Amino acid sequence: VTVTFVEEDGTERTFEDVSTGQSLMEVGRTNGVAGILADCGGACACATCHVYVDEAWMEKVGAPDSIEEEMLDLVSEFHKPNSRLSCQIPLTDELDGLKVEVAPTGY
Ligand code: FES
Repeated sequence: VTVTFVEEDGTERTFEDVSTGQSLMEVGRTNGVAGILADCGGACACATCHVYVDEAWMEKVGAPDSIEEEMLDLVSEFHKPNSRLSCQIPLTDELDGLKVEVAPTGY
């Protein structure tokens, strides 16, 4: 599948032929996308993999669960309605073309 990250400075980074079965965070981290730090390694416990999901994709990606919401509340100054932790977004064929913006980490 193809996914695009927009880094904080506006740089668009598109990755093609990404295999499904990994999380969106893993794609970002493997490819060195700026701002995808993923300090906790994908355990939904650090919020440094925070992204804003493109409006057009909101429905397919879905809403965060309650644990993820709690993490997002810890970075409340950057928390938007389309906030998601990218380690909690498993890539599936349905998400081919997904576009997200990397959120500021706050540090
Ligand atoms: Fe830590 Fe996603 S990698 S919350």
